[in-house]
Amino acid sequence: MTQFTLPLPTEADTLALGGALADCMVPGLVVYLSGELGAGKTTLVRGLLRKLGVSGKVKSPTFTLIEVYEVSRLYLYHFDFYRFTGSGSPREFIETGFREHFNPQSVCIVEWPEKAAGLPAADLRIELQVPAEADSGRNVSIFADSEAGASCLKRFTMT
Ligand SMILES: Nc1ncnc2c1ncn2[C@@H]1O[C@H](COP(=O)(O)OP(=O)(O)O)[C@@H](O)[C@H]1O
Ligand SMILES: [Mg+2]
Repeated sequence: MTQFTLPLPTEADTLALGGALADCMVPGLVVYLSGELGAGKTTLVRGLLRKLGVSGKVKSPTFTLIEVYEVSRLYLYHFDFYRFTGSGSPREFIETGFREHFNPQSVCIVEWPEKAAGLPAADLRIELQVPAEADSGRNVSIFADSEAGASCLKRFTMT
């Protein structure tokens, strides 16, 4: 529906993008974060959570699969399914019991969504790319796949 691409020359830009996206997080939103290992997915979530007022350490859920935050009456779940086998069967995801977290009251942000078959559809898809040249930062493409995602991006681009 809506999409755009931005350069992110430094880590600070990735954090700032997360901060800008924080302002358009509304209950019920599902955000997919894609990109190779080290592309900056967790960094972006860190920027987003900082902007929402999370002051403690923002850990990567690589080993725990999930980190839970409650910020200004918003439940925010940060998932990382890197350790899933990616077999294509939804069983792995269903057995975690995390399906119930994808509800109208929660924001769900998912690293490695492509490994979790059966995941609810995204409202926003964020793809981080690492350019071939060394030290050239990152590029990001953002896609809105639903009305909720599109109105999120509308607010995002206005700021
Ligand atoms: N725009 C950027 N340019 C250069 N380095 C970046 C940028 N964004 C993040 N990084 C760095 O890349 C690494 C990404 O780590 P992380 O966010 O854990 O990646 P992922 O969660 O995608 O595996 C970190 O060392 C971070 O400092
Ligand atoms: Mg990560």
